[in-house]
Amino acid sequence: MGVFLTAEAALQIIGEVEKLPAVAPFWEESQATFPVGGPDFLKPVSIHENRMWCGFDEDVEAVLTRVAAVISEHPALVRLAWHCWWRLYEGEGEIAFDGWPDFETALGQECGVFYLLVGIAMVPRVRALHAAWGIPEAVTRETCQEPNAFCYNHTQMFVGRIGIARSTLFWLRNYTREPYFRLGRLEFWLKPFGESIRVFRRPEGGEVIALAAEGERFDAQGFMPVESVPPAEGDWVSVYNETPGQVTGNPILPTGRAVNTLLRLNLGEWERVLEPGCWVLDMHIPAGGKMSPEAVRESLMTAREFFKKYFPDKPAVGFVCWSWIFSPVLDKILPEESNLVKNIREVYLFPYASDPQDGLGFVFYQDKIDLTTAPRKTSVQRAFLDYLLAGKIWRAGGMFYLMDDLDDYGKQVYRHKRLFTVI
Ligand SMILES: CC(C)(COP(=O)(O)OP(=O)(O)OC[C@H]1O[C@@H](n2cnc3c(N)ncnc32)[C@H](O)[C@@H]1OP(=O)(O)O)[C@@H](O)C(=O)NCCC(=O)NCCS
Repeated sequence: MGVFLTAEAALQIIGEVEKLPAVAPFWEESQATFPVGGPDFLKPVSIHENRMWCGFDEDVEAVLTRVAAVISEHPALVRLAWHCWWRLYEGEGEIAFDGWPDFETALGQECGVFYLLVGIAMVPRVRALHAAWGIPEAVTRETCQEPNAFCYNHTQMFVGRIGIARSTLFWLRNYTREPYFRLGRLEFWLKPFGESIRVFRRPEGGEVIALAAEGERFDAQGFMPVESVPPAEGDWVSVYNETPGQVTGNPILPTGRAVNTLLRLNLGEWERVLEPGCWVLDMHIPAGGKMSPEAVRESLMTAREFFKKYFPDKPAVGFVCWSWIFSPVLDKILPEESNLVKNIREVYLFPYASDPQDGLGFVFYQDKIDLTTAPRKTSVQRAFLDYLLAGKIWRAGGMFYLMDDLDDYGKQVYRHKRLFTVI
């Protein structure tokens, strides 16, 4: 163990030299810190600890330990594992592991375990970060479940084989650096709102309305096409304009469509409640199903108290999310009584540019969806395939839910109580 190799030599040994462009950056830097006794995260004591914190069953540990021993004894794999760990946790700037080796030649059926070992190595860093903020251990344990959720996805993609898909590994860095926690069913990341829509509330009646940003392209239905979609009849471009005392813009309906009519709001009557840069809780949905409106409500309520307590200087004005789960066409695909449709009725949907495959990997567990071979195992998969095979257009969507409306979650407030009729 521990003999220096170039990235090229390491890849040649494992038979994947074509992956050099993805692996080469920062190789010298990472190898300069290669630990004398080999990487800690490949040792049984660390594996045991990390496995427990991530909530994996005991039987997973035997596989992790066995593959880690193979990697540790292998002159190239051990260097590549260290490089992967270093890029993910020590490195800076954008990272992506999509072009990295698949390790099939070197590790066979257990190749996904390479990335799983690196993934669960987030545990000591997440623990240290949370401890510095005084976060209760139970929250840290919940937050550390994500590699397990990724592993579940891997078992769906590769018939029961444990691992983490290369394409998702980069995400785990966020838990080691950001105010990002799992609280019940959902995860929440405290950050400034990065979208350009603006949201206003009329305190007197309580109505809420969102306005599109300046210069966005919409189609005739009020959805946002991606740039690659050629211009079509009915396309229009939004306007947003602020003058002293008033704002003018194209409204967005809570169903997630923008309207090609200008609306003028008097700022004496309407107050700004969400705009770019406001603190928000950006929501993420770990795998696991059972996303009932009650489970969502409970999770949002917990988040409200949690962030108020631990990050009082960054008061979040609401929850936001971009996902297939908040698609404005879900109610055309799934039955009214499904959790997913009930959830989209609760929140305020807004459009974002989505391509026709956005998010479908979470439904079919394929990198590129092939409608003829995509699985039809679950009711959700069957409903999606029926919709897509009928030639209908899929799009993902965005949503917000304002903190001040949280006590009313479950009452579809943006569709009823807070609805501002614009047309
Ligand atoms: C989003 C999610 C939580 C919704 O769960 P839900 O609607 O409450 O699901 P339920 O547990 O009620 O299951 C309803 C049906 O959907 C199926 N289902 C649940 N999640 C599924 C998924 N990701 N893909 C395909 N089918 C799924 C269930 O197997 C069940 O099928 P059945 O009726 O044949 O038994 C769930 O799809 C999930 O865990 N997704 C993975 C994570 C994800 O997509 N995150 C978003 C990333 S942007």
